[in-house]
Amino acid sequence: MSMTESQPRERTLESPRAPAPIIAARSVVKSFTTRGKESVILDGITLDINEGDFVTIVGPSGCGKTTFLQLIAGLQPMTAGSIAFDGVDIVVPPAGAVYVFQQYGKSVFPWRTVLGNVCFGLEGKGLSKAKREGIARDQLALVGLAGFEHHYPSQLSGGMQQRLAIARALAPGPRMLLMDEPFSALDALTRAKLQKLVLDIWQKLGITVVFVTHDIEEALLLSTRVIALHKSPANIDIDLAIDFPHPRNPLTLGEDSEFLAKRRTLLSSIYRQEGIEYDGGVM
Ligand SMILES: Nc1ncnc2c1ncn2[C@@H]1O[C@H](COP(=O)(O)OP(=O)(O)O)[C@@H](O)[C@H]1O
Ligand SMILES: [Mg+2]
Repeated sequence: MSMTESQPRERTLESPRAPAPIIAARSVVKSFTTRGKESVILDGITLDINEGDFVTIVGPSGCGKTTFLQLIAGLQPMTAGSIAFDGVDIVVPPAGAVYVFQQYGKSVFPWRTVLGNVCFGLEGKGLSKAKREGIARDQLALVGLAGFEHHYPSQLSGGMQQRLAIARALAPGPRMLLMDEPFSALDALTRAKLQKLVLDIWQKLGITVVFVTHDIEEALLLSTRVIALHKSPANIDIDLAIDFPHPRNPLTLGEDSEFLAKRRTLLSSIYRQEGIEYDGGVM
């Protein structure tokens, strides 16, 4: 993808782009064989994700959320079925997609400076050093890290390292951002700030986001669609459109009756599978 094509596009709320599936997953099966015993993790998942959507995948722990996200990222081979990115079957990581790991340490190089980390994804594209650094500085400003260019990741807080991971992911101008529980290791206030950052970036750049979390309220705050997986093996249990208007305020949204009803629907699915019971029965 050339830098010209990949420059961020403004999301104009008056004229939304016509939805077209950027991801088309068809009967995706993933199994692992451990000591000669095969276990099926993903049970033939079929799913379209429209370009520009913010889709969040939730589900009980160990159900296969990370595995599914890594298949979309082309980081693991699937056992059967197919996933197409923009109509092309994924066999290696697609150029237009970037993956942000759950542990931010995995998404940054400790031996490179903040600026050097963001420049990494721009190397080998025929851009001059000055051009690469200019793009990297813009990305760092976007995530609130201007002034930290010459720090090393170990000199940053966890929240700042995750901001750096996001800046680095965005630098090549991806069309799709894949994020696996990116805020799960952060304290509540840092998490709230990063949730707002991701929402702002999604609105500003108009990119597609596929996000994994175990936090239902985070899913409802951020997403245009929430998919709950059931486990053993995993498939889609609930597929909910989330159409609360933007900008979304977590304080007022959290009191909205539709928000509370959707929260209940999603939590019930997960609690049921985890065997969490209240009032003498499963929710
Ligand atoms: N490389 C692997 N080899 C064997 N089993 C694996 C491997 N990766 C994941 N699993 C198993 O697949 C299941 C789903 O894992 P994962 O996708 O990490 O779940 P989640 O992200 O929903 O918590 C788990 O039972 C896990 O133990
Ligand atoms: Mg996981």
